[in-house]
Amino acid sequence: MYKIAVIPGDGIGKEVMKATINVLDSLNLSFDYNYADAGDECKEECDEALPQETLEIVKSSDACLFGAAGETAADVIVRLRQEMKLFANLRPIKSYPNTNALFDDLDFMIVRENTEGLYKSETEEYTDEGAIAKRIITRDAEERIINYAFNYAKDNNKSKVTGVHKANVLKKTDGLFKEIFYEVASKYPDIESEDFYVDATAMYLITRPQSFEVIVTTNLFGDILSDEGAGLVGGLGLIPSANIGENGALFEPVHGSAPDIAGQGLANPIAMLLSAEMMLRYIGENEKADKLDNAILTVLKEGKVLTPDLGGNANTMELANEVKSKL
Ligand code: NAI
Ligand code: MG
Repeated sequence: MYKIAVIPGDGIGKEVMKATINVLDSLNLSFDYNYADAGDECKEECDEALPQETLEIVKSSDACLFGAAGETAADVIVRLRQEMKLFANLRPIKSYPNTNALFDDLDFMIVRENTEGLYKSETEEYTDEGAIAKRIITRDAEERIINYAFNYAKDNNKSKVTGVHKANVLKKTDGLFKEIFYEVASKYPDIESEDFYVDATAMYLITRPQSFEVIVTTNLFGDILSDEGAGLVGGLGLIPSANIGENGALFEPVHGSAPDIAGQGLANPIAMLLSAEMMLRYIGENEKADKLDNAILTVLKEGKVLTPDLGGNANTMELANEVKSKL
């Protein structure tokens, strides 16, 4: 029996979560769901965007499914990542049929460091001249994320890992990143390694994205490159993510609460369904994850029941039920 924390959150977060749990219910999983509140509505009702009780539920669970928060996202999801020490942010970039993907043959993973770099907000401050932010690169955190990327490659039959940095300009911080990248790479002789500057990588993602298998990079670069990757494969309704730590993990669609379409049944549940699939793989339910993946792929291939973002006129639950019928 797995304990799964479920945080639907705000707007379409609630809709795609309901649809996803509906599909998971057909997979005969021994899941004990613990629902918890967080987000804008929660803040209105109980004065806190992320109540202590929610944090306790997440901490005592094997994994967490998260829908989306609204304006309080920074207080909710960024804080959850920090409190739970979720150091690895994984964003798969994969093309599916009948979507607006610019390329139909992409399948790579972006592994982003989630705890330091330029995103340690406590180091940002105003100065007499303007404002300043520090870029923190520690040996421990970078070694951990690069090791994670190589292990991911090994476990998922990927033959190459690409380290992305700007060591020609950021000589100390990214000089260290590059040094650690090759130290770690030397422990994985069966996996090819290469490194590129981040600006060149941004271009290669457009000119030859098929050449990537696993990209590992620091926090800010990973944030930007992964949105570029999302653009390559057809947008937010399709992109899942995982946040992995040593003592927990949280799975969420990359999109937010989408107030422009919330409450109308227009949201595409696939990003949330694929996030649930990542959770199934994380806890070792690979067969059921494959089953879910095949069902989603079949629905997209047939192209009969699609939400409006994919050019169809089905609603959130109709798409989910179609996936369910293919399991
Ligand atoms: P958003 O991701 O909510 O929406 C961007 C656009 O994509 C909208 O036009 C929306 O309708 C569309 N979209 C998003 N997901 C979709 C889906 N599943 N199906 C069909 N269309 C979809 O980002 P936006 O508009 O920048 O932010 C809205 C709110 O969400 C803000 O309050 C923001 O703070 C919050 N947010 C929360 C995140 C989180 O909880 N992790 C992440 C990003 C934004
Ligand atoms: Mg981002």
